[in-house]
Amino acid sequence: MATRRISCLLSRTFSSSIFPRGRNSVFSRGTYNYSTAVSLEEPINPNVDIKFTRLFINGQFVDAASGKTFPTLDPRTGDVIANVAEGDAEDINRAVSAARKAFDEGPWPRMTAYERSKILLRFADLLEKHNDEIAALETWDNGKPYEQSAKVEIPMLTRLFRYYAGWADKIHGLTAPADGPYHVQTLHEPIGVAGQIIPWNFPLLMFAWKVGPALACGNTIVLKTAEQTPLSALYVSSLFHEAGLPAGVLNVVSGFGPTAGAALASHMKVDKLAFTGSTETGKAVLQLAAKSNLKPVTLELGGKSPFIICEDADVDKAVEMAHFALFFNQGQCCCAGSRTFVHERIYDEFVEKAKARAAKRIVGDPFKNGVEQGPQVDCDQFKKILNYIRSGIESGATLETGGERLGNKGYYIQPTVFSDVKDDMLIAKDEIFGPVQSILKFKDLNEVIQRANDTRYGLAAGIFTQNLDTANTLTRVLRAGSVWINCFDVFDAAIPFGGYKMSGHGREKGIYSLSNYLQVKAVITALKNPTWL
Ligand code: NAI
Ligand code: MG
Repeated sequence: MATRRISCLLSRTFSSSIFPRGRNSVFSRGTYNYSTAVSLEEPINPNVDIKFTRLFINGQFVDAASGKTFPTLDPRTGDVIANVAEGDAEDINRAVSAARKAFDEGPWPRMTAYERSKILLRFADLLEKHNDEIAALETWDNGKPYEQSAKVEIPMLTRLFRYYAGWADKIHGLTAPADGPYHVQTLHEPIGVAGQIIPWNFPLLMFAWKVGPALACGNTIVLKTAEQTPLSALYVSSLFHEAGLPAGVLNVVSGFGPTAGAALASHMKVDKLAFTGSTETGKAVLQLAAKSNLKPVTLELGGKSPFIICEDADVDKAVEMAHFALFFNQGQCCCAGSRTFVHERIYDEFVEKAKARAAKRIVGDPFKNGVEQGPQVDCDQFKKILNYIRSGIESGATLETGGERLGNKGYYIQPTVFSDVKDDMLIAKDEIFGPVQSILKFKDLNEVIQRANDTRYGLAAGIFTQNLDTANTLTRVLRAGSVWINCFDVFDAAIPFGGYKMSGHGREKGIYSLSNYLQVKAVITALKNPTWL
C-alpha cells in the first residue's frame, strides 16, 4: 500500500479564504492550534485488497487513453490508498460508444424483461456475498463509519437492486381513449444511453439510485464517479460482469468534473443525464446538456433543511433525532436537518441537551467499533467546514461545543453546536456539509413556516410534534421534497426522493424514478370498420 501523503496546505488556504480573520476568530482566541496533536490512534488496517483501479469500459478494466492516473486518499490520514486511472473526454467517448452499441445493437434492450430482472437479482446476491469487503472499501475511501457501511448502506444497496429487479418485468404502457375511430396505446421504451454523475458522500447508494432504475428500464449507462471515492463502484462493476451483464451495458469512468464530467454532460450521443452534487455544478451540467443535444436532466442538489421542534415535543427524543438529522454521515448529507428550529419555551433545555449530546459523540477511526463519526471526506471539505465555523463565531452565534479540528492529521472535526443562530447568518443560509448544528429559536408556527421556507433550497424538512393538526398543517405548507414527522432520514427503496426549488429537478427511487429512464411512445391505429364499435 502506498503511503504518500498529499499535503492539505491548511495555513495557506486559510489566509486566502473567503472569510477574513477577525478579532474573535478561533485563531486569535488561540484555541485552534494545528501544531498541537490530539492523539488519534494509528489507523486500523482496512484489511481489503484494492483489486480494481482501472476504468470499466465495454465489460473490461482498461487504462485511461492518456495513461494518466490520480491518487485517491484515505481521509483518516491524507495518505494515498491507490492510484486510479484518470478518465477524460477521450475515455468518455470510448464509454459512450460502448454504451451506444450495447443499446442500439446489443442484447440488453432486446432481452426479455425477465432475463434482465434475473441479472439484477444475481448482482444483488453477489453484493450480499461481498457485503463486508465492499463496505471496507467504501469506508476506506470515504471515511464513514464501517458499521454504517456494512450494516446500513451496502444492505440498502442490495435491497434497492432487488426492488428494481422486481420492476423490470412490470413496465408497460396503457391504452387510451380517442375522439374518433382509433385504437390508441402507449409503449414505454428505454430512453437510450444514460449519463450519470455521482458524488462522494454516499458513493454506492448514489450509484444504486441511478443504475438500478436505468437498468430495470433497459437502458445502457456511462457513470462517472466522484474523484474522492472511485473505488467501490469499480469493485461492484466487476460483480455486474460476474452476474452476466452484457459488455457495454454499464461503463464506469473515474475522473474529474471539468474533464470527464463535462464531457459526459455535453456528449451528443448521451440521451439522458442524471446528476447528484452541488447546486452550482448542477447549473453547469444543465447548461452543458442544453447547449449540446438538449438531453433531459434530473438533478439532486443541495439543501438547508429545517428541522422544526414544536413546544409539545418530547425534548429528549427531539434532541436525539435532531442530532442524528445533522451529524449522520459526518454531516455530509444533502438532506441534513441543518437548521434546527426550536420553540422558545423549550429552547434553553434543548440547547443544553443538544450540546451535551454532541460533546459525547464518539469521533475516531471509522473502522473502530462504536465510532459514530469519522473524518470529513477530503481537505477541501475540511477547510470549507472550518471556515463556516469561523464565520459562525464572527457573526455572533454562540459556540456551545466543538469548533475545532480533532487530531493533527486527516480531516477530523469536532462535533460543533451553535445556538443563537439568526436567519441572516451564513451558517443559517449555506450548505455547510459538515458536523455543525445551528439552533434557531422561534415563537409561533406562523413565524416558523415563513422562516423555514425562506431559503433557495427545498430538499427536506423534519417536524417534531405530538399534535396531529400541527404535523398535517406544517407538512402541507413546507416546500420540500421529503417531510419526516417524528423521524428523519428514513430512506427506503420505494420512497421517492428529490427537491423543490434549487434542490433539484425530478425524483429518484420508487416508482417515480422509472419515468426518468423511459420514453412514452403513443401509437394510434385507424380502425377500418368504426361502425362496428
Ligand atoms: P460537485 O457538485 O462539484 O461534485 C459532484 C460530482 O460532479 C462529482 O462527480 C464531480 O466530479 C462532478 N463535477 C464537478 N464539476 C463538474 C462539471 N463541470 N461538469 C460535470 N461534472 C462535474 O461537488 P463537490 O465539489 O464535491 O462538493 C462541493 C459541495 O457540494 C459540498 O460541500 C456540498 O455542499 C455539495 N454537495 C452536495 C451533494 C449532494 O448530495 N447533494 C454531494 C456532494 C457535494
Ligand atoms: Mg478517497
